[in-house]
Amino acid sequence: MPVTMILGLQNGDEGKGRAVDYLASKNVDVVVRPGGGNNAGHTVVINDNKYKFHLIPSGVMAGVPCYLGNGMVIDAEVLFEEIKSLEKQGCDCSKIKISSQAHLILPTHKRLEEIEEEKRTKKIGTTKRGIGPTYADKANRSGIRVGDCFLDDGTLTHIINVHLKAHEEKLKDEFSVDFLFSYLKDVRKYLGQYVIDNLSTVVNDHISLKHKVLLEGAQGTLLDLDHGTYPFVTSSNPCAGGMCVGSGIGPTKVDSVIGVFKAYSTKVGEGPFPTELDCEIGEKMRQVGKEFGTTTGRARRCGWLDLVALKYAVQLNGVDYLVMTKMDILDSFEEIKICTSYKSPALGNKQWPQFPTNNYLLETMHPEYISIKGWETDTTKIRSWKNLPTQAIAYISYIQSFVGVPIVLVGVGEERDAIVSLDLVSQAIWKK
Ligand code: IMP
Repeated sequence: MPVTMILGLQNGDEGKGRAVDYLASKNVDVVVRPGGGNNAGHTVVINDNKYKFHLIPSGVMAGVPCYLGNGMVIDAEVLFEEIKSLEKQGCDCSKIKISSQAHLILPTHKRLEEIEEEKRTKKIGTTKRGIGPTYADKANRSGIRVGDCFLDDGTLTHIINVHLKAHEEKLKDEFSVDFLFSYLKDVRKYLGQYVIDNLSTVVNDHISLKHKVLLEGAQGTLLDLDHGTYPFVTSSNPCAGGMCVGSGIGPTKVDSVIGVFKAYSTKVGEGPFPTELDCEIGEKMRQVGKEFGTTTGRARRCGWLDLVALKYAVQLNGVDYLVMTKMDILDSFEEIKICTSYKSPALGNKQWPQFPTNNYLLETMHPEYISIKGWETDTTKIRSWKNLPTQAIAYISYIQSFVGVPIVLVGVGEERDAIVSLDLVSQAIWKK
């Protein structure tokens, strides 16, 4: 039953793409992406070549079948461009399949998001990719799914009418039935060859054949619609439970859950961020860590690692193993702080060890830190645990004992092999 999930434990941008690439390049037969859309962005660097992914699982680099699950929202134009650009870079995209049940992000959704964000008094700071309105349409049963493009003209016209009727107040007559009809015909023309019906059965067949299946998460746990810092969240469920729904497999089929986190914290968009460093230390993290969004180019907010939030995310997802990325970004810091609890005047300034699920309460939280001396050593060439500086080992050990889950891989650079791995770690994960 070798099914492994890889998911983000913070605010997205944890470096899941390269963790997936690392494990996929070792031993994987199929990769499935269960959720999100082109609000995500992964970069994988191989031999100085940068590959950028928004919709396609970064596991495509392993040359194995890659499936875009029913839980995804897909901007067909972006997907088509991404396939073309990866093919130009020599990637084999012929094994990509898209679930017919995934929802399409339409031009109407992007326009609706503009109208809705403009009206909000407190902005969410979305990626402006039409993600929220598409998931809202899905829940409202007025969305259009990838498979709908294959229906007969009469049925497709009916579905378009339902969609436009649901938004007539906001969109007036900005979009016509004819426009969407020909748009959807183009989707069929350009992406039809990749679409597959009942992807859930295909994935379950792989599982029955004992193939090694990797589920590649998008976004991060703190952006989860139910469990994140609502309302400053995305509109899907990037947590482990959402990944089962988004790929059509049952939770009993999942063998291991790997949680990825960065050695410090970042966030794009609005919302509470207790360990944010709005000072020169944060600026140094941003510059050294190149913390600018792959998707929108926005500068990411930076701060110390928050173990209260990390422990919450580990518990929520039932994480078995941890991957810590970008430890090398802390190489030149004299002092490194780790948040181990909060204090809030709203709670009488008592120590608060738990992550508040209420965003307004979270906003009042002040971080309580422990501090360690930095290792002040270049770790980018190190590939084995025994060569890591003592203080880096102290950092890793503190984190794993605090959250109670082992760290099995540590990222120390952008390149594919810039990873310190416990010997035989991938075999251990697959054989569990
Ligand atoms: P949306 O997903 O575009 O609706 O944006 C909602 C919130 O999630 C915003 O704060 C975004 O910046 C954030 N967000 C969505 N996807 C990602 C991601 O892949 N990485 C980091 N932040 C994201």
